Amino acid sequence: MAIIEAQGLSKCYGEQRVVDALSLSVPEGICWGLLGPNGAGKTTFLRMLTGNTSPSAGSLRVLGFPVPGKAVELRRHIGVVPQQENLDVDFSVVENLRTYASYFGISRSRLQSRIPELLKFAALESRAGSPVTALSGGMQRRLSLARALVNEPKLLILDEPTTGLDPQARQLIWQQLRALRARGMGLVLTTHYMEEATRLCDQVTIMDHGRILDSDSPQKLIARHIEAQVIEVYGKGLDSWHGVRGEALAERFERVGDTCFYYARDERPLLDALRGHPELSYLHRPANLEDVFLRLTGRELRDA
Ligand SMILES: Nc1ncnc2c1ncn2[C@@H]1O[C@H](COP(=O)(O)OP(=O)(O)OP(=O)(O)O)[C@@H](O)[C@H]1O
Ligand SMILES: [Mg+2]
Repeated sequence: MAIIEAQGLSKCYGEQRVVDALSLSVPEGICWGLLGPNGAGKTTFLRMLTGNTSPSAGSLRVLGFPVPGKAVELRRHIGVVPQQENLDVDFSVVENLRTYASYFGISRSRLQSRIPELLKFAALESRAGSPVTALSGGMQRRLSLARALVNEPKLLILDEPTTGLDPQARQLIWQQLRALRARGMGLVLTTHYMEEATRLCDQVTIMDHGRILDSDSPQKLIARHIEAQVIEVYGKGLDSWHGVRGEALAERFERVGDTCFYYARDERPLLDALRGHPELSYLHRPANLEDVFLRLTGRELRDA
């Protein structure tokens, strides 16, 4: 069964079509990543998934429930970590979990065991009584994740779960998300960290201006859009080296500021040609999802 099934889904704000006739199907039991530049329409799409905003056109089913028609029923089975933290700042960590649990009618006895489990999951046992305002950003994010799991959802929807977190906190969240997926929970996430999407997601969809540009596993997207090897070259003398050697030896190149990105199936001729040019600095690396993202969505800044 597909956990998400969208057909011709659109959302307009005034004249602006921020989600534009989107059709997609996400199978159950996978981690699906929705990627796109600022303003691409990711949060708007997620808000439609959860019934928080109504589509302007098209149809949508989540866990088999038509949305927004059956959004109230759907919400019993999903967990949501929103982009903007919305914890109750007047309450402590435990009170936040309890209040949220009360919306789902979870019994007192179930909560007795559930709350310690959630605190452990979020590594917040020692902060159980702390007011939310006394938590660091990373702790608040972990609490949001724990809160989203209160109702033991079948599907967890996370809008930029690790933005602003340090590497330790990010790694912890990655481990926890992998553990949830291993238990069969469906995961939907947005992120601007391409490395995160590569590590966590079985499938990603790259969107821009409300439309899908491509969908597949990270590895297949890389193989489809980018030559396997990338060499970034910069330094005085780049222009002349580029004219004589670089341009001819790469399948493709791209000049960005003072750096030239060379894309090649075989990196060796380029590396040989760089030898004996100490005036040039270079970085050789395998192609990655960020290369795909930039190729499909362009390099221009969005919110400038
Ligand atoms: N309530 C709203 N009213 C009017 N316009 C909106 C509203 N919500 C979003 N938009 C517009 O819709 C577009 C898509 O916004 P959205 O928040 O979905 O983008 P996003 O892909 O999540 O971006 P980011 O990566 O910055 O979070 C933007 O142009 C935004 O200004
Ligand atoms: Mg967003």
